[in-house]
Amino acid sequence: MNKAKCILLSCFFISVSAVVVNAQPAGIPQRVEALLKKMTLAEKIGQLNQYNGDWAATGPVTTDVGNKLDAIKRGEVGSILNITGVQHTRVFQEAAMKSRLKIPLLFGQDVIHGYSVTFPIPLAEAASWDMDAIEKSARIAATEAAAGGVHWTFAPMVDIARDPRWGRVMEGAGEDPYLGSLIATARVKGFQGKGLGNLDAVMACAKHFTAYGAAIGGRDYNSVDMSLRTLWEVYLPPFKAALDAGVATFMNSFNDLNGTPASASHYLQREILKDKWGFKGFVVSDWGSIGEMINHGYVKDNYEAAEAAINAGNDMDMESRSYINNLAKLVADKKVSVRTIDEAVRRILTKKFELGLFDDPYRFSSEEREKRVLNKPEFIAAARDVARKSIVLLKNDKRVLPLSKNTGSIALIGPMVKLKKENKGFWSLDVGDESQVVSLYEGMQQQAGITKLLYAQGCDITDTSKIGFADAVKTAMQADVVVMAMGERFDMTGEAKSRSDIHLPGIQEELIKAVIATGKPVVVLLYAGRPMVFDWTADHAPAIVYTWWLGNQAGNAIADVLYGNYNPSAKLPVTFPRTEGQIPIYYNHYNTGRPPHADNDVNYTSSYIDLLNSPKFAFGHGLSYTTFKYDNIKLSKKSMLKTGSITVSFDIENTGKYAGGEVAQLYLRDLVSQPVRPVKELKDFKKLMLQPGEKKTVTFIINKDKLAFYNDKLERITQPGDFMLMIGSASDDIRLQDKFTLLD
Ligand code: BGC
Repeated sequence: MNKAKCILLSCFFISVSAVVVNAQPAGIPQRVEALLKKMTLAEKIGQLNQYNGDWAATGPVTTDVGNKLDAIKRGEVGSILNITGVQHTRVFQEAAMKSRLKIPLLFGQDVIHGYSVTFPIPLAEAASWDMDAIEKSARIAATEAAAGGVHWTFAPMVDIARDPRWGRVMEGAGEDPYLGSLIATARVKGFQGKGLGNLDAVMACAKHFTAYGAAIGGRDYNSVDMSLRTLWEVYLPPFKAALDAGVATFMNSFNDLNGTPASASHYLQREILKDKWGFKGFVVSDWGSIGEMINHGYVKDNYEAAEAAINAGNDMDMESRSYINNLAKLVADKKVSVRTIDEAVRRILTKKFELGLFDDPYRFSSEEREKRVLNKPEFIAAARDVARKSIVLLKNDKRVLPLSKNTGSIALIGPMVKLKKENKGFWSLDVGDESQVVSLYEGMQQQAGITKLLYAQGCDITDTSKIGFADAVKTAMQADVVVMAMGERFDMTGEAKSRSDIHLPGIQEELIKAVIATGKPVVVLLYAGRPMVFDWTADHAPAIVYTWWLGNQAGNAIADVLYGNYNPSAKLPVTFPRTEGQIPIYYNHYNTGRPPHADNDVNYTSSYIDLLNSPKFAFGHGLSYTTFKYDNIKLSKKSMLKTGSITVSFDIENTGKYAGGEVAQLYLRDLVSQPVRPVKELKDFKKLMLQPGEKKTVTFIINKDKLAFYNDKLERITQPGDFMLMIGSASDDIRLQDKFTLLD
């Protein structure tokens, strides 16, 4: 068993579309039917079978298939995952061309945040709240991946995550269904470009269907227990958005949802996805998840697992071999109908036709194109742009930042300063070269000008020894300003990387204390794939910058922000708790019958007696080097019918010295409702750029869509009554508010 989904391996080898055009070329249904007629049952079952190539594995690998190329030639394989590169994929495709019907293989790969040019981790990109930049990042990843022989990315992960202990929080868009839905749309559009069949488009995959992010206790692969109303209200919207954007495939999930493993969930896969939503693509299992239903205690063996999964609508089996080993017998035993198998095969073949693979199975196999397309300068520039946009300025007391260009010397201290390839973050590929990655040290050097850079590591990420402290303190004493680069190791988040303790690891906070004690101005950079807990630092460091893991251009992007060549504009897509005890903590919670009247109100209210109620940093929080004034709110009317709308307008003025971007956020609260509604829900936002002194008017339209919600019968309804409208710079920084009424 190879559990080393290193993703970032220690060895390194080797036009944004506005609309999704996914129209199917004519004749595909007929070609699919004609092919289906020629196929034996065994060949059909082969199409439903996906094997791992020979790269990274995220689960148990069974070795009972012998030579995979021979299995492919026998028509027993429909898809291979985890192989990249034109030379490599071609070998497998050539084997498929030796099978009786020459049905091409699909090559799937986790292209999560870049292929060769690595972009920020998805959670970081979500902090940009910039849909164009996010779409562009996915577009470039797809362009490179397709040039590298990949047909299909297992992305975007659109799981809502309200628990920062869960390691895979890094891979999604955070906690909010509205923001998450927009990002799901942007990523699907980016990956699929102008539609399958174009040589720069790959199939996207909305995963993990569903509720995987609500694993109990934040422990990966754990069970999920939730009301169906919460499922519909919070967890399903990003999947529906991906579907509406034309996503080609869905992946189900490892977890059970209310007792039924997702791979066997008829409710999720057939009732919701294929019937109610009319999804025309196919569903792949997660790695081994069909076979894992034995461990769940849901079925007794792989035979029963295959039966449950295929009948529930899971079309392709990733790596569990349950289908290839059992479907023929299940058909003979009349437990699975040929019709069910045909339906799954039809869905898969349709995508192969749409990709153009039947017309030319090697159309993604041009070595010349691979060389020409990868690492283009404009891709690298885009990676730097979105990296800068993803950096969140959490705190900037006394305006320590931006650093003055005349600073005599800066001490760079901490375990992250000289890291290279780690900047790519978890779920990055071993395509490309370490020299493409810019460390913080290199990025700062590039822009240092007359400033002298000093360096001390101080400690390692998980160190327990303070041996390096003295040197760090000495170095700090010699400098005018100190920049400390601290955080979690890149592989402390990701799959199977849940943590019960999300504090800044090791003795890093001790080092921060020691350096702050020098009295020098200190800027703390925090590298992480999740919200961490760093209370002392949050209270004592004058400036804190959350950098996440930013990809190849990390060092340049951070230097841009520190030197003020880029004014930060990112906002947290997820709530930062004060301590793990507050988890799950999210901004769109209910009010309860005993809401606290103040942050420290413990007088028989819903609170902790040993902790404030508020988070450390709220959803939507993120500062700028400049300041923005919100003013002059106007509602076009104070009441509306269900069929009508209200236009809200207000002014934002840049009242500071720097040009900068602001994300103005619209939250609504349904004041009286049955069932009850959250205290705040993000319903819209606008990101705008303002020059110093510039003022712009922003408008939002309130319509029925923004007021609708699911009732206990899972019907999407609106209820007449009063709504509070809040406009702010963060969920806890509301600058303007008003009320309106939805009429009967
Ligand atoms: C992960 C998926 C991933 C798959 C293939 C699984 O372990 O949960 O998200 O796409 O492996 O690598």
